[in-house]
Amino acid sequence: MSLLYRYVDQPFLLSKMSQLAREELLHFEQVVALMESRGVAYQHLTASRYAEGLRRHLRSNDPERLIDVLIIGALIEARSCERFACLIPYLDEELAKFYRTLVKSEGRHFEDYLLLARQQTQNSIDERIAFCSA
Ligand SMILES: [Fe+2]
Repeated sequence: MSLLYRYVDQPFLLSKMSQLAREELLHFEQVVALMESRGVAYQHLTASRYAEGLRRHLRSNDPERLIDVLIIGALIEARSCERFACLIPYLDEELAKFYRTLVKSEGRHFEDYLLLARQQTQNSIDERIAFCSA
């Protein structure tokens, strides 16, 4: 969310990130409702070490730092997409349907993050994507 405060000169970035945040919050509410309907208690989970490990490689200054933040966002979305897709065959119809919508959204978020990262520079970011993906 700090992106929304730091990059006031990038309306497209702000608009995309705002849409994405709204969609993530909607998913959160949908998950909580599904859990409630199934009698599953909400529990706090600690942040994933995977994301923390990726953020350790953030470069210090913009635009490189922002590019890294966006690439890392893309990788996290791609990972969610893959994990949700793997789970679908093991879910009941209601959950499978919901997870299929999540897979679509996460795939779109992955593409949005990469688009935003590419818009930060005239240079290719492919090498940086490969570095962060390794
Ligand atoms: Fe997402």
